[in-house]
Amino acid sequence: MNLGEGEAFPLPKEPESHGPARIIAMCNQKGGVGKTTTSINLAAALAGYGRKVLVVDFDPQGAASAGLGINAMALERTVYSEMIAAKPDIREIIVHTSVPGLDVAPANIELSAAEIQLINEVAREQCLSRVLRPVTDEYDVIIVDCQPSLGLLTVNALTAAHGVIIPLGAEFFAMRGVALLVDQIERVQDRLNPRLVIDGVLLTMVDTRTIHAREVIDLVRERFGKKVFETQISRTVKFPDATIAAEPITTYAPNHPGAKAYRQLARELIARGASA
Ligand SMILES: Nc1ncnc2c1ncn2[C@@H]1O[C@H](COP(=O)(O)OP(=O)(O)OP(=O)(O)O)[C@@H](O)[C@H]1O
Ligand SMILES: [Mg+2]
Repeated sequence: MNLGEGEAFPLPKEPESHGPARIIAMCNQKGGVGKTTTSINLAAALAGYGRKVLVVDFDPQGAASAGLGINAMALERTVYSEMIAAKPDIREIIVHTSVPGLDVAPANIELSAAEIQLINEVAREQCLSRVLRPVTDEYDVIIVDCQPSLGLLTVNALTAAHGVIIPLGAEFFAMRGVALLVDQIERVQDRLNPRLVIDGVLLTMVDTRTIHAREVIDLVRERFGKKVFETQISRTVKFPDATIAAEPITTYAPNHPGAKAYRQLARELIARGASA
């Protein structure tokens, strides 16, 4: 087995062909827990292992688009226009990033109107599934970067997804609201999307020097058991730095421990069979 990087998960084989995609919703209604950072960097790491990856920016703040170097404010067509279109064509909005194999479907502030506009749609929870359908055979992984809310857009992401990754900041209130999130996932499983599973819980912004962080980690592992990824993401300013550079850390500072951690996460996800 070729482990490399002195770490625990095997180096994934390059796939011989692409698709169909595993759709992963990056989800936590708590703000600032690392959803966007994880979407961007896990996607870039998976692309580095030869996967074709699409990041769907599903947050009106457009942070995933910006973090991947796309100025979404200037775009006429975005995820929003396709969500409300009579005949959506996601290929019209997908942009290649500077990372080979990594594409993004950008969003901007217009997406904030979707939540209200979709209320009267037929099958309003299935709009994102419908938008993604034409390209699911072309990608190996589609990561949907959700906004910090459990509203209709997030329900759309959970309905389209095969799996959910829940990033949790390793800090005092990390578990607050997680029960609500799990309830919402179970409701979507029950009513709209029986295939949905939690692919994993990811501890982010970990500072193991503090007793407090270690306590939170123990608590999260107690609650979620094997669902918690062995890989943890440490707290480091390289992430905000990479955001300003509008690049994934895996290309901005490929040898930084933060980049290694996201490569490990990609390997762990593949080793778990939760990604092609
Ligand atoms: N491991 C980390 N160490 C230090 N800073 C981090 C780390 N991960 C993310 N950050 C920074 O924390 C802030 C919030 O991260 P991020 O935007 O990924 O969270 P989010 O869950 O997507 O937030 P929101 O809910 O607002 O969409 C950003 O400035 C990001 O650069
Ligand atoms: Mg975000």
